[in-house]
Amino acid sequence: MDLGIKNKVVLVQGASSGLGYAAAKELAGEGCQVAICSRDEQRIQRAAESIRRSTGASVQGYVCDLVDPVARQSMLGEIERKWGSVDILVANNGGPSAGFYDSLSEAQWDKALQGNLIAMKDSAQEVLGSMRANGWGRIVFITSVSVKQPIDSLILSNTARAGLTGYAKTLSSQVAEHGITVNMVLPGIHDTERVKELHSDLADPAFMAKDIPMKRLGQPDELAAVITFLASTRASYLTGQSIVVDGGLVRGLF
Ligand SMILES: NC(=O)c1ccc[n+]([C@@H]2O[C@H](COP(=O)([O-])OP(=O)(O)OC[C@H]3O[C@@H](n4cnc5c(N)ncnc54)[C@H](OP(=O)(O)O)[C@@H]3O)[C@@H](O)[C@H]2O)c1
Repeated sequence: MDLGIKNKVVLVQGASSGLGYAAAKELAGEGCQVAICSRDEQRIQRAAESIRRSTGASVQGYVCDLVDPVARQSMLGEIERKWGSVDILVANNGGPSAGFYDSLSEAQWDKALQGNLIAMKDSAQEVLGSMRANGWGRIVFITSVSVKQPIDSLILSNTARAGLTGYAKTLSSQVAEHGITVNMVLPGIHDTERVKELHSDLADPAFMAKDIPMKRLGQPDELAAVITFLASTRASYLTGQSIVVDGGLVRGLF
């Protein structure tokens, strides 16, 4: 299938490792021009070099703390000067702390809502103007399976991502007539640094996988493939959807 996104300008956030990195690599493999960002200069430049080497695509790494609006604007300006405006945004950020309703500080709540709701909402707002002007755009938010089935120990994630989903679903209907689609992918348990940190007490992947019908963790590129399809011209009539990629973990009907 020709996904029809060769030379599109892509920004994948939080892409020095994990799901963001895998999405950037997959999109680069489709011939997109890919900007990636994270907070750490060495990690992001290493990731950019690795994607360039394996795909031959044009890939640029940017240092940007996504909760800093000035840093985001400056990165967007640099991308625009290099390649033109962003056609495809994969909005992603590091995940919030684990914890229960009575164990989290105000500062932790604030950080989670800033990072996993406000910064992601603002990142979309910042690319919508040019997408509207071009009459085409794709926004894919990486959220979590916790949107469908809240995870007990992750009340911050459950709350911030539910809010973001409300925003994204509403946005999708407001921009659909301009050729812009807005979708969400909901990872289950994929083999990344974040998952290793959260489950540091459960080092055995077989144990982590015991409730997953496929009896294994997802690989980051299994989420990246879905993101890439959603970002493509072939997903032209698909918007406002929350797509779970979890090896069957969520047992609900919808
Ligand atoms: N993996 C899963 O199974 C899973 C399941 C459900 C939800 N999720 C969610 O999906 C998202 C990605 O997960 P992941 O597993 O890929 O996490 P990860 O392996 O920890 O990667 C997070 C990435 O985001 C970057 N980052 C973190 N904070 C940032 C900030 N403020 N500004 C810019 N970049 C930042 C990190 O790079 P630097 O450290 O270099 O900044 C890294 O590249 C997270 O929100 C996570 O909670 C993951």
